[in-house]
Amino acid sequence: MREYAKVFQGTAFTSATPKEVTALKDRLFCIREDGVIGRVVAPEEDDYQAIVDAYRDGPGFRRLDEGQYLLPGFVDLHVHAPQWAQSGTALDIPLYDWLNTYTFPLEAKFSDLSFAKNVYEDMVSTLLANGTTTVLYFATIHKEASILLARICADKGQRGLVGKVVMDDPEQNPDYYRDADTATALKDTEEFILAVKELGASAKQGVYPVVTPRFIPSCTDEALQGLGELAAKHDTHIQSHCSESDWAHGYVQERCGKHDAFALHGFGLLTEKSVMAHCNFLDEDDAALFAETGTAVGHCPISNAYFANSVIPIARWLDIGVEIGLGTDISGGFSPSLFDNARQAVISSRMLEDGVNGELPASKRGVPNSRITINEAFYLATAGGGESLSLPVGRLEEGYAWDVQIIDTALRTSRLPLYDANEPLEDIFQKIMYLVRPENIREVWVQGEQVHKRE
Ligand code: GUN
Ligand code: FE
Repeated sequence: MREYAKVFQGTAFTSATPKEVTALKDRLFCIREDGVIGRVVAPEEDDYQAIVDAYRDGPGFRRLDEGQYLLPGFVDLHVHAPQWAQSGTALDIPLYDWLNTYTFPLEAKFSDLSFAKNVYEDMVSTLLANGTTTVLYFATIHKEASILLARICADKGQRGLVGKVVMDDPEQNPDYYRDADTATALKDTEEFILAVKELGASAKQGVYPVVTPRFIPSCTDEALQGLGELAAKHDTHIQSHCSESDWAHGYVQERCGKHDAFALHGFGLLTEKSVMAHCNFLDEDDAALFAETGTAVGHCPISNAYFANSVIPIARWLDIGVEIGLGTDISGGFSPSLFDNARQAVISSRMLEDGVNGELPASKRGVPNSRITINEAFYLATAGGGESLSLPVGRLEEGYAWDVQIIDTALRTSRLPLYDANEPLEDIFQKIMYLVRPENIREVWVQGEQVHKRE
């Protein structure tokens, strides 16, 4: 009878569709040795009690306490791990100046492996403590430090997808922070890919290399072409920034005579395993190209409020079938929490729909049908992220990884306002999404292993 490594008993929330969240009340989640959900058993099923009886007294059985709920672990599609060292600062100037004044000098310091180790260990632990179990990371241009970030993910049990950043254009990047030349950038990237594949082979949860041109303005055409070829040769994920701000979008239009999306596509960089951050200035053709190639948008709502010069029409792109997930964009966005970003995604979409200039009449102020709900924001943080990465994560269903956060709504020091024993589960879910703080996230599990616990 004991065919599962672990059995969890409790109530969980998972996305059924982008708009619908399913509450799974009092289910048994039966977890296989490999950390994958083997079965989800409802109380009305015949063998429910038999499974409880068989596992109840064993070490792998866990019944959630009153007031505790399971959510899928979050998937963060856009993090600059080195920028954790400046999070919450330097948000007062435009993107171009921010990169040159603060960000490139900081990232240059990651040639120092002991500095890199300090920051990267904190970054990975902080994201886990915020309920984030899968992360798509930009590291820096440094091969060794980038491999170190992947190793830290492997050791701490986080599903890390890590990119060594490429920025090889001597015209566009400072001498103190760029790849030595195009050939070196490509050689370092290939060595990085091989090293991380080897690391990933022995990490239960998986750790993956990602081909990472920073954005078109940082890279020569030869580098972009070579990176597209490397991604195809080694079947890797690909990430970059795409049409983020007026300046970045305008630069690409001027240099390439087209939008980022079509330029990236021309270099072989839009595939099913591509995730492009921001994408604020996609037009309908760009978005259709994303949908056709399976390229995902990493939506970074907090960062966008500072650097992107616009609110992305996320509801429209969801409607036409573009894959979308959420990103914190540490440190363009100051918060390491996808709860915070889910809230901002909803708020920004409401402001886009209604408009913000009170001097205009209501009928001219906004963009109709732009709002998303908290259910959709939850989808972006979970299932949408998993689909974007083409990985079986972000849902609590058979065949998906057991990546979860255990949320305690009854914690004495951070109780959620739940007063009615019969409060509908949909309302409890909304309160969790809007009000949870890191203290309420008591435990985090990845691929069936506990990776974070708050004492
Ligand atoms: N565009 C190029 N590099 C960056 C970066 O580090 N952060 C953001 N937000 N945009 C970028
Ligand atoms: Fe970014």
